[in-house]
Amino acid sequence: MYAPRVLSGMRPTGRLHLGHYHGVLKNWVRLQHEHPCLFFVADWHALTTSYNEVEIISESVWEMVIDWLAAGVDPSLATVFIQSRVPEHAELHLLLSMMTPLGWLERVPTYKDQQDKLADRDLATYGFLGYPLLQSADILIYRADMVPVGEDQVPHVELTREVARRFNHLYGREPGFEEKARDAVRKLGSKRARLYEELRVRFQQNGEEEAIERAHALLDEAQNLSLGDRERLYGYLEGGGKMILVEPESLLTESARMPGLDGQKMSKSYNNTITLREDAESVRRKIRTMKTDPARVRRTDPGNPDKCPVWQFHLIYSDDGTRNWVTEGCRSAGIGCLDCKQPVIDAVLKEQEPMRERAQPYVEDPSLVRNIVADGCEAARRLAQETMRDVREAMGLNFA
Ligand code: TRP
Ligand code: SF4
Repeated sequence: MYAPRVLSGMRPTGRLHLGHYHGVLKNWVRLQHEHPCLFFVADWHALTTSYNEVEIISESVWEMVIDWLAAGVDPSLATVFIQSRVPEHAELHLLLSMMTPLGWLERVPTYKDQQDKLADRDLATYGFLGYPLLQSADILIYRADMVPVGEDQVPHVELTREVARRFNHLYGREPGFEEKARDAVRKLGSKRARLYEELRVRFQQNGEEEAIERAHALLDEAQNLSLGDRERLYGYLEGGGKMILVEPESLLTESARMPGLDGQKMSKSYNNTITLREDAESVRRKIRTMKTDPARVRRTDPGNPDKCPVWQFHLIYSDDGTRNWVTEGCRSAGIGCLDCKQPVIDAVLKEQEPMRERAQPYVEDPSLVRNIVADGCEAARRLAQETMRDVREAMGLNFA
């Protein structure tokens, strides 16, 4: 039975913080129990913007993987690897670049946005323009079905779908396709074959989305199909040719907007973060020195939680009881700000404790992390090579 595959990546550009944990990593940890997952370090993507300060990459890669493991990513469930250790990504990127219209890349919103935002860097480079196409290669090379990403990345997944469609359209037409497809239908067995034909007709004549979904499910359940036949039958449903590359869906990560210490979004560039495994003393100090409602100059001045960044933390970490205690105590000056901060400190430390614990063996023995990643790279590479065989063949590169 075919299981939908999840893939996501993260650029190694510094230490991860609680914003990454609440925004991304918790989601990965949940997904790894539901689907086969691939999570990778996008070190080449980091180079597209940091090509003139490359140290940040090697400094962040292993710490980032430890952060993932600390957050609960489990290498027995998910494949953890590094992009540049699977050079097939680069080959697919190159081949896709042959057939990707320049306009598609120039139109991706992050292209202009990031150039404006990172105005101190020269991003008028070939590599930066190709950023989303490299991402498409990352996704397509594993035939990933679902890509958990934040909102800003959705256009990249959309581009990936268009690239896959164009690729299949250009290269999925093998000689004798119709006949091979009909043979493949027969291999489904008579009952499934009849249902497949019926669903195919319903989709092609009436465009019924439900029919194509049911047909996909039917193919996913079919046991003895070769990869080639599966691609043919997927493609045959829609009329065209073989479906060599799979169109992924983005799995929009609810942007759990983690507040930073100053009330703005937690982000390295605002210098308002608590890192994932920050030591306890530093966490205490950072929270104790957080700014509060400016109206509370003296302990006896009442305040308003809505004007206080500490309250944002209570919204994430505290239960109703504590929240009531805060709102009442703050508005009546019944509690001091340090009192108010203590439950937040306790909750953050409690959240971090298992992470520090899980990270401990890896910090003590870095070879453990190296081994996990080496295994992950090997597994990823096998999948990538499988796709590349089909891609090379489709693009006429398997000549003797
Ligand atoms: N561009 C993504 C980001 O900045 C990282 C990334 C690279 C990625 N390749 C990917 C995410 C493939 C999902 C799938 O967050
Ligand atoms: Fe903020 Fe709490 Fe102080 Fe009120 S009591 S200002 S919510 S820290």
